[in-house]
Amino acid sequence: MLPFWVADMDFETPAFVREAVMQRAQNPVYGYTFRDDRFYDAIIGWMQRRHGWKVEKDWIVFTPGVVPALNLAVLAFTEPGQGIIVQPPVYFPFFGAVADHGRELIHNQLITNEKEYVINYDELETLAAEAQLLMLCNPHNPVGRSWRKDELERLANICERNNLMVISDEIHADLVLPGYRHNVFAALDEETAQRTITLHAPSKTFNLAGLNTAFAIIPSEALRKRFEHQIEKLHLGLGNLFGFEALIAAFNKGDEWLDQLRGYLAENVIFTKEFLAEHLPEIYIYPTEATYLIWLDFSHWRLSDEEFRRKMIDEAGLALSRGADFGPGGEGFMRLNVACPKSMLVEGLQRLAKAFG
Ligand SMILES: Cc1ncc(COP(=O)(O)O)c(C=O)c1O
Repeated sequence: MLPFWVADMDFETPAFVREAVMQRAQNPVYGYTFRDDRFYDAIIGWMQRRHGWKVEKDWIVFTPGVVPALNLAVLAFTEPGQGIIVQPPVYFPFFGAVADHGRELIHNQLITNEKEYVINYDELETLAAEAQLLMLCNPHNPVGRSWRKDELERLANICERNNLMVISDEIHADLVLPGYRHNVFAALDEETAQRTITLHAPSKTFNLAGLNTAFAIIPSEALRKRFEHQIEKLHLGLGNLFGFEALIAAFNKGDEWLDQLRGYLAENVIFTKEFLAEHLPEIYIYPTEATYLIWLDFSHWRLSDEEFRRKMIDEAGLALSRGADFGPGGEGFMRLNVACPKSMLVEGLQRLAKAFG
């Protein structure tokens, strides 16, 4: 079976990251290791260069992953029974981060206009009054939107009027495709910065997810203290010394590599769209502005879950991510990960065309 599912890449982690990890491995002492200024400076430099956001060292809090941080934030800032808004179809660990801790999951489903997915602001106005917190996926996995500044401003305005805290998962921020720009939600204005926790990591960008190294950026001292307290209580703050070295090398040396990667991913996205337009025009494809994930609408075939599974897995030998797993609005869709060599993508698309054509 050809895998196009889990959101990591079939590319090697860049050589400058591997070298940094190997160099640290040569030092035979792997005991408890604190993060020094190099870690914080690398993040500050990256956020400034790539996203134009001036981050202060004190705002940065290490976390062993973005999903762990989503869960920690829920524990730190909400009480059981309180409402948390998510905007499906969305990366499914958002649901668990709410429901697994006895908080109430409130869905503000994304809507589609003729050409793209958009936030349902009218519904959000109503829901916001009942909620404590909103989980934003920026850029949005799986629909591939890189939210524009005016869209985020409208969202921020609703959050401000309803005193909603925001957890902004920006793990895909570096992977906006050429022609698009990532907008950091917390960088909109001071008011928004004070109510927002931004989560980021080098793991998607440089294929380092196995090193469990991520971070939160929290300008509000009060919110930061509560978040840090949660991490301390669970003894999750120590981290992985190889992850630190990887992050430092990636963020200090990775600009050129990332720009080349974005070019390659953009070509894979364009190739996929052209191939499907020619061979399987029944599949509707929403524009991919960011991430290496393409959101494909298979509803034309009206297949049951079982028929879908049989066609994809048994017949085509393809493993894509099932749209229904991303919550309401995901039924009938599939998510295709194109962060792979083009030769593999061609083979995968040909198999798809054979099974569905
Ligand atoms: C939106 C989003 N957040 C978080 C993650 C995973 O983060 P981590 O591996 O740091 O827990 C992913 C991985 O696919 C993702 O798409």
